[in-house]
Amino acid sequence: MTGTLERTIYAGALAVLAGLIFAGGFLAGFSFSPWGPPPAPAAAPGPEPGRGEPPLPAAPPPPATASQDARVARGKALFLASCAACHGQDARGIPGIGKDLVGGEFARTATDGAFFEVVAKGRAVDDPGNTTGLPMPPRGGNPNLTDDDIRAIIAYLRSLGN
Ligand code: HEC
Repeated sequence: MTGTLERTIYAGALAVLAGLIFAGGFLAGFSFSPWGPPPAPAAAPGPEPGRGEPPLPAAPPPPATASQDARVARGKALFLASCAACHGQDARGIPGIGKDLVGGEFARTATDGAFFEVVAKGRAVDDPGNTTGLPMPPRGGNPNLTDDDIRAIIAYLRSLGN
């Protein structure tokens, strides 16, 4: 009766296997079903609505007055070095040497462009605009003055009253 014995063993093995499957299914169901569906996976970390990566505030531009102050200060230093000998420490002119660059008619009425032209090119004694018979040397006689230096000097002179 070996066939019967084999069938018995086979049936027993199937029963054990079915039991394991049943138990596994039961345990699997037990872990979830009594409390409903498994919890939804946690939301992926990321920017919350309305708070997502706001652009960094741009660095505020330096205050205009600060940079203008620096420019005027530079212009003053350049003026004292290159122009004051003839136009005076206060730029108010020295009679018989250099004209008033603050209250003079030219200083009060010239555009920055015209001002720049005179400083850059000077005004020779034979220039129709020359009123003193004295030469205004190009760049005050200082060829190292850059165009930007001249503009800084003009900014300084403007700050004195024009
Ligand atoms: C060597 C002396 C001397 C130096 C240095 C000098 N100047 Fe003059 N500048 C004069 C003379 C003289 C005049 C007047 C010329 C004339 O009669 O038009 C003059 C005229 C001017 C004028 C025209 C003023 C007006 O009322 O017509 C300006 C602007 C001026 N100078 C700016 C400057 C600046 C800025 C510097 C320095 C970079 C400078 N000067 C350096 C002698 C000088």
